[in-house]
Amino acid sequence: MFHPLTVSRLDHLTEDSVAVTLDVPPELRDTFRHVPGQHLTFRHTPEVGEELRRNYSICSAAPPADAPGPAHLTVGVRHIDGGVFSAHVVKELKVGDTLHVMPPTGRFVLPPAPGRYVAIVGGSGVTPVLSMAATLLAREPAARFTVLRCDRSAASTMFLEEFADLKDRCPSRLQLAHAFSREEQQAGLATGRLDAPRIAALLPSLLGETLPDVAGWYLCGPLGLVEAARGALREAGVDRRRVHTELFHADAAPAVERPPKAVTAAGSRATATLDGRSGTWPMRSGETLLETVLRNRSDAPYACKGGVCGTCRAHLVRGEVGMDRNYALEPEEVADGYVLACQSRPLTAEVAIDFDA
Ligand code: FES
Repeated sequence: MFHPLTVSRLDHLTEDSVAVTLDVPPELRDTFRHVPGQHLTFRHTPEVGEELRRNYSICSAAPPADAPGPAHLTVGVRHIDGGVFSAHVVKELKVGDTLHVMPPTGRFVLPPAPGRYVAIVGGSGVTPVLSMAATLLAREPAARFTVLRCDRSAASTMFLEEFADLKDRCPSRLQLAHAFSREEQQAGLATGRLDAPRIAALLPSLLGETLPDVAGWYLCGPLGLVEAARGALREAGVDRRRVHTELFHADAAPAVERPPKAVTAAGSRATATLDGRSGTWPMRSGETLLETVLRNRSDAPYACKGGVCGTCRAHLVRGEVGMDRNYALEPEEVADGYVLACQSRPLTAEVAIDFDA
């Protein structure tokens, strides 16, 4: 369900990005509690064209569970080429405007706990990691956090000051390493992209003997960087269950070849449960489960429609489906029967999913 929230502050971070702070009224503060790493889904209806939904990660720290929910939430938005909503936010949004926002969701999260954590991020992928670092360092006196980030240049880097402030507050517990892909650096890492060999070479110097002790690895950014980091961690023998990933930009993620049977045949029927109510509807030829459900329930959850954000995750309770692509669910979730409705096409005549599970 979307709630209207008022923009109370705008901080331009770089030429093409802005931090948007929203006021959360007292009656919604429990609804808008978040775990560090989660995102908000925004609904935008442009003057011309269809309704859009976009996810943006929360960068503000999360209040403790025994404190009131947040009075403000901040997200980081970067304008991407051709992005209608991001252009609106970066170029036109004003303090006092209203945005329509769903409560926080997402499973790319770091619930604060003692231990050592590492994030490897590119570009705006640093946004959820700022919330993780700020919350963890404030709440867990023994926790340590390392951020290895890659940006085009210092001028295009989001949240430089915010990380510098955190580093001032927790110099021995926050470790920052920054690579710029297109700018010579006076100190620090050499210029160039972070590819798998480079990440593999950097990890021992950043973490030393503590590499096997890292409790959680958080990889966020474009596909190339996330895959490179995943490859480097695999080579280093890191347990895959400790590695959490979040991709930005559905368009960058290639589709897997669809299994030949996974083409929606006319005559299939889809049942969906959402907010405790169920319905069954005939599917049209070529439709995904999300498309069928949306024709009948406009409140079905989704954002990217590209298999990347995980907002449309549902539990498959009957039948079989084939997914076109999946960049959001972990293998354990797939094994437990979770699917992405936006990517699922029926392999059986009857299919039932539960968005509430
Ligand atoms: S809507 Fe984003 S993965 Fe389905």
